[in-house]
Amino acid sequence: MLNEPIPFDPAHDLDALAASGALGGNVALFRQPRGPDLLRRGAPLDDWCALRMRHGVWPYGRILEGPPAPLATVEGDGLAAQQGINFASQDYLSLAGHPDVIDAAMRVLAECGPHSAGSAILLGNSRYSGALEHSLGALLHCQHVVLFPTGWGAAFGAVTALVHGSDYVLIDALAHASLRQGAAAASRNVSAFRHLDCDHLRELLAGIRAVDAEAAILVVTEGLFSMDADSPDLPLTQYLCREYGATLLVDVAHDLGAMGPGGSGVIGAQGMLGKIDIVMGAFSKTFASNGGFVACNERSVRRQLQLFAGPHMFSNALSPMQAATVLECLRIVGGNEGDVLRADLMRNALELRALLQEEGMRCLGAPSPIVPLWTGSESAVRVAGMLLAREGVFVNPMEFPGVPLGGARLRLQMMARHTPAQTRRAAKLLASAVRRALDAPRPVLRPAG
Ligand SMILES: Cc1ncc(COP(=O)(O)O)c(C=O)c1O
Repeated sequence: MLNEPIPFDPAHDLDALAASGALGGNVALFRQPRGPDLLRRGAPLDDWCALRMRHGVWPYGRILEGPPAPLATVEGDGLAAQQGINFASQDYLSLAGHPDVIDAAMRVLAECGPHSAGSAILLGNSRYSGALEHSLGALLHCQHVVLFPTGWGAAFGAVTALVHGSDYVLIDALAHASLRQGAAAASRNVSAFRHLDCDHLRELLAGIRAVDAEAAILVVTEGLFSMDADSPDLPLTQYLCREYGATLLVDVAHDLGAMGPGGSGVIGAQGMLGKIDIVMGAFSKTFASNGGFVACNERSVRRQLQLFAGPHMFSNALSPMQAATVLECLRIVGGNEGDVLRADLMRNALELRALLQEEGMRCLGAPSPIVPLWTGSESAVRVAGMLLAREGVFVNPMEFPGVPLGGARLRLQMMARHTPAQTRRAAKLLASAVRRALDAPRPVLRPAG
């Protein structure tokens, strides 16, 4: 049958895999199909994905059975369900399985049911969402917090609610898609500054102010970049914004809770609590739930978001159970247990990076919950991801559009509850898979379809 996975023996079949065409091409080639038939013009993309699937190098849409734990059972990618060491889930402090978090969720599920049944503005709020706003505001030193049903919605909603067509957005070139898509939807005056490059940002700010003193400028960056594990100089970025009458938005999806004193993230670590114009984040990495937020110290921003951020106004709110889950996670994050979990998480990240470096591997960025392991080549990242899944190590192979073309890498996301033994075993398997993948035969690109 056409879609049956082809049995694969990694000991012998890398040549056949390269010859199959499944290691060639990239999503960018299929981005803008032409022709009037919207239903069928995506067929070449579908064929290419099916080819990759048949050869076991389509690691997307796999199924996780049970909780996102360090040892997890995963199905898909041409494999029957199997258990392995999991670096592909986002649960940095291992709070998704914490008994107090599960208790809080179960209690509120029993009390309120599973559903918010309205957008935040139309009776979708609960006392748990109110308490969550309050608690997040306290952690971030922000008086106003607006909640969103997803982190994606918070990013897109914040940018589109605040910026309009005659304003400008200056955005870090590697910012998350939710922010870039928000910027593109809000204004045509969008420029990317080189990743983390404050000199380039200053140049762009000065250029805008030389010709336009009236328009608003939103500068967008992240606390911890999720594919690169690096961070901007926030005091300097905020200073530049003040100097040129711009407003700074920082997305703290990956660092809030998992890093910084008391879980205050990179903003706290850089001494900037309460000093960043707008802070935006997601609960989905550390706080065991879908959801997102925007926080600031201006009441008028809150009002603007409530009425003009589509994903807040026109989408159902977080359920009471989700709000209670995040609230309980925040309680743990801010206490002694949070300190211990953050220390465990950082120990795991440091150990994995050190072991990989001993093996001659290149990890990007700085120690954080994210360990990006560079391959550069799309074909190598596909082969490495496939070999690892077969050996019981689950990672996310990242290629375009998650990262730029030619910037493929394996992304490992650490958890506080990974054990040293898991880390050691994974490091060996990771290094050997990446070495084999980089030595593997070059792909042959066959025309899809
Ligand atoms: C930096 C960043 N911002 C926003 C989001 C969106 O968050 P969510 O997946 O919770 O909607 C993500 C998620 O991948 C992210 O990495």
